[in-house]
Amino acid sequence: MLRVGIIGCGAISNLNVLGYLHSQDAELVAVCDTDVKRAREKLERWGLRTLKIYEDYKKLIDHEDLDIVEILTPHNLHLPMTKYAAEAEIPGISVQKPMAHTITDCEKMIEICKKSDVKLKIFENFRFYPPFLKAKELLDEGIIGDPLNFRINTIKFRGPSMYVDLKSSSWRIKFDICGGGPLIYDDGIHKFSLALWLMDQKRVEELYAWIDYFNVVMDIPNYIIWKYPNYNHNSLPKYGTMEFTFAPNLYYPNNYYDCDEFIEISGTKGIMWLNQCTGGGNFLSKTPQFPPIVVYTDGEVKKYGEDMPRDWRYSFINSTEHFINVIKNGGVPIYTGEEGKNLCIFAKMPYISNQRNRIVLWKEVSAENEINKSCVVEEPKFEDRSGFPRFNRNLRKDLKKGINQGLINTEFKYQYDD
Ligand SMILES: NC(=O)c1ccc[n+]([C@@H]2O[C@H](COP(=O)([O-])OP(=O)(O)OC[C@H]3O[C@@H](n4cnc5c(N)ncnc54)[C@H](O)[C@@H]3O)[C@@H](O)[C@H]2O)c1
Repeated sequence: MLRVGIIGCGAISNLNVLGYLHSQDAELVAVCDTDVKRAREKLERWGLRTLKIYEDYKKLIDHEDLDIVEILTPHNLHLPMTKYAAEAEIPGISVQKPMAHTITDCEKMIEICKKSDVKLKIFENFRFYPPFLKAKELLDEGIIGDPLNFRINTIKFRGPSMYVDLKSSSWRIKFDICGGGPLIYDDGIHKFSLALWLMDQKRVEELYAWIDYFNVVMDIPNYIIWKYPNYNHNSLPKYGTMEFTFAPNLYYPNNYYDCDEFIEISGTKGIMWLNQCTGGGNFLSKTPQFPPIVVYTDGEVKKYGEDMPRDWRYSFINSTEHFINVIKNGGVPIYTGEEGKNLCIFAKMPYISNQRNRIVLWKEVSAENEINKSCVVEEPKFEDRSGFPRFNRNLRKDLKKGINQGLINTEFKYQYDD
């Protein structure tokens, strides 16, 4: 049995733990959090109340002889925690996305893990969402020909959704801890991952972005456009767009975070639509209008994936199972450190573009340019913050209206939950 430790028992630990709870090959043996109360509450929910809780991650690593450590903490802590775990030669280090708050830290993490000969995984779960795995299979079979254009809309509404406490949100709006804003840098990593993986690309060439900070604290609404590298001048150029839409009056019950994703990929001979990810499994998934995959090609519209598990939690379980297998049997983690770093570069480009009001090139975002300060993502400064309470007051009104209509969310339960 592989011995697993979790550092950081915040919001996402509830999902990261799932792949270990029923594993035949790995078991959680201890957790760590500076907030012991939080850790205790989590263990209680997971039915593991006898497990040891450490307040200091170094002690967890020193005393528990771990095979895998899960690092689920604010982004500026990913490097020091990875470094300590790698130097202690823990064979498998899984770090929640984004890899780090700076490209400089990403590079250090790659180097340290290479030197210690341990496997570093960047945990990006959308890549393992069952309908997206099916979509990738179809794309690789050439169902829409050569994919030319990728488009993803993340709609952010106001639930009702999973409870996330304020402590969990407060560090995300600090750019020096998060590495950017809570939408494009933090959540966006998942979407940039899909924009590369589904399009079979390693990076983009150039990008332009508009970013508004409508309620002051969040980098939304925004609109991002990019061009993929054109390696072969005989083939059509490829583009992508990403938008985060703010829909405060859209009542949309979600079992997880208060957003959902809709994707459209156009190819040389067809179009593919992918409905939902974070919201997968909610009431919308149960309607015939929203199958997970729709393809138009050769004069026909076809649906796929309706029989697959659509709940978002399976993306976490699949990702964890993949890593357990890599540590047990060998192989390459998804994602590697290099791939994780590329996602951070992609996710920083919109801020640099917005700051300078011009197209930004991939090669401009690098550790070297962070050190010489030519590509530092800056936190926006606001003099008037009154938009935030006004915005929240309106949201509450709409929530009540929706609940009165009988549409509610259902948070998933563990065996020992009430
Ligand atoms: N894959 C996803 O869909 C997804 C969703 C949310 C968050 N995340 C990522 O997961 C990570 C954690 O996010 P979260 O939402 O759980 O944050 P959170 O704030 O809810 O939890 C972080 C936890 O780390 C603890 N912590 C802070 N400093 C510590 C230290 N020095 N030692 C031990 N514990 C410490 C905090 O007390 C807290 O309980 C981030 O990288 C985030 O981007 C991923």
